[in-house]
Amino acid sequence: TALSLTVSKVAGNIGARIDGVDLASDLDDSVIAAIRAALLEHKVVFFRGQNLDADSQEAFARRFGTPTTAHPTVPALEGAPAVLDLDYGRTTGRANHWHTDVTFVQHPPLGSLLRAVTIPPAGGDTVWADTARAYQSLPPELRELADRLWAVHSNAYDYVADAKPGDDTEDARRHREVFTSTEYVTEHPVVRVHPETGERVLVLGGFVRRFVGWTGEDSRDLLRILQNHVTRLENTVRWQWAPGDLVFWDNRATQHYAIADYGTDPRRVQRITLAGDVPVSVTG
Ligand code: SIN
Repeated sequence: TALSLTVSKVAGNIGARIDGVDLASDLDDSVIAAIRAALLEHKVVFFRGQNLDADSQEAFARRFGTPTTAHPTVPALEGAPAVLDLDYGRTTGRANHWHTDVTFVQHPPLGSLLRAVTIPPAGGDTVWADTARAYQSLPPELRELADRLWAVHSNAYDYVADAKPGDDTEDARRHREVFTSTEYVTEHPVVRVHPETGERVLVLGGFVRRFVGWTGEDSRDLLRILQNHVTRLENTVRWQWAPGDLVFWDNRATQHYAIADYGTDPRRVQRITLAGDVPVSVTG
């Protein structure tokens, strides 16, 4: 029951660990409601010691929404159309950037559920940042500017430029070609109203190419200011993975970064994303 579930903060401002629940079991609606409430409050929730496989991960995900196909361009895990297999250095590159998942489509995912499969002996932590708190921390004049701005998001941006040749295998290089094989270009408001909490959140991250009506140079400068607010350490939580972990984040209110500090050790995680809404600006 919901009564046995405990929620404890992992960092001061974002992230909570949920204990006392077996995600592979047939969970009561009240437990699902408690998890959803914790997700909305803490933006990312962590579960240790779970016993999920791709099927039970998907069954759990379905309690919160409708899984999308694994990815707009990257093929799914074989036999599991909703599962994106992130096998770093093999099916995907190790290089990373701060991003919100799949913002380059019209309906970016509501949330992502990521399951540990193979975790390196050291390193490979993931960091999440709170984009609602980041918005609140902006000076009021900058908030007003951000409220009115729109940004162009594309999958053919620094995801590729940041990759360090030599770090990755031939498979990973091929993956980058697949990732950008169909180019998506979508405009979103820089500030969206979160459809469940009503909070204003910044919609930015590594898929932003420029601001609508701005030059590339001006866009880069402003983006750096805004991204610095998002990624301030006080605004983040860092998670050290263990086998059996499942992490669920609100993709509408966070950015994240997987730290590539584990050399050539294997790191493999599997992600399911839930279908989300078209971001709505502060003027509707
Ligand atoms: C992701 O970027 O969605 C995956 C993050 C991770 O591998 O920790």
